Amino acid sequence: MSEALDYLIKARPEAMQAYFSFLKLAGKHLDPRTRAIISVITKVDNQTPAGFRQYLRRALKEGVSAAEIIDALLLAFPSLGLSKIVWAVDQLLEMDLPEFRLEMQAVPGAELHEWRDLATLAELQPGRINCFERDGRHIFVTMAGNEPIAWDGVCPHRGIRFKPENVSGDILVCPGHGHRFDLVTGQGPENSSESLNRLATRTRGDKLQYQCANAATGAVDPRQEKSS
Ligand code: FES
Repeated sequence: MSEALDYLIKARPEAMQAYFSFLKLAGKHLDPRTRAIISVITKVDNQTPAGFRQYLRRALKEGVSAAEIIDALLLAFPSLGLSKIVWAVDQLLEMDLPEFRLEMQAVPGAELHEWRDLATLAELQPGRINCFERDGRHIFVTMAGNEPIAWDGVCPHRGIRFKPENVSGDILVCPGHGHRFDLVTGQGPENSSESLNRLATRTRGDKLQYQCANAATGAVDPRQEKSS
């Protein structure tokens, strides 16, 4: 939440509560995916990077596909104009989300997700941050009891790739702009909506597998760290 919004909630709690209730009720006949797509497009119109990224991630979690997001952007083009749509695509590219990579768009009917081996169970050390290099990026694994939690090693701020040396205790410190991410919860800086992208995992035999989004070509994304 932004500092300004936080201030308004404290200064005018009733008015702000009414506003949030209005937002909730206003779309009550829409399914969650449609609401999520509309929210993304409103952020394209506003051109607020943090809001766009937050609502885009929420839409993907609601099950909206990358193709549907691109369709929505193109549908909004006549009213929002090309520059806003290009701005949104720039944001997408900086976020480096596997679903939006060109090779994934270019293969009709491609299987977007594939399970790949991450580590043997014996390699996972409780109480430590376990780091594995797979598919051109590092994946950081923590253990919550017996449950492994795998974090994609790509910064949600501007897409810089983390390295093992960026870990300090339970904290991942981005070499780009110094944002700090909790490797237990995935939470980013206070008062921001940034959080690490959690990868789906499963156990098969003595292996921990993770869900990789490069299955269409098996390609490793050649893009490296991006400048801010
Ligand atoms: S790219 Fe990580 S903090 Fe900016």
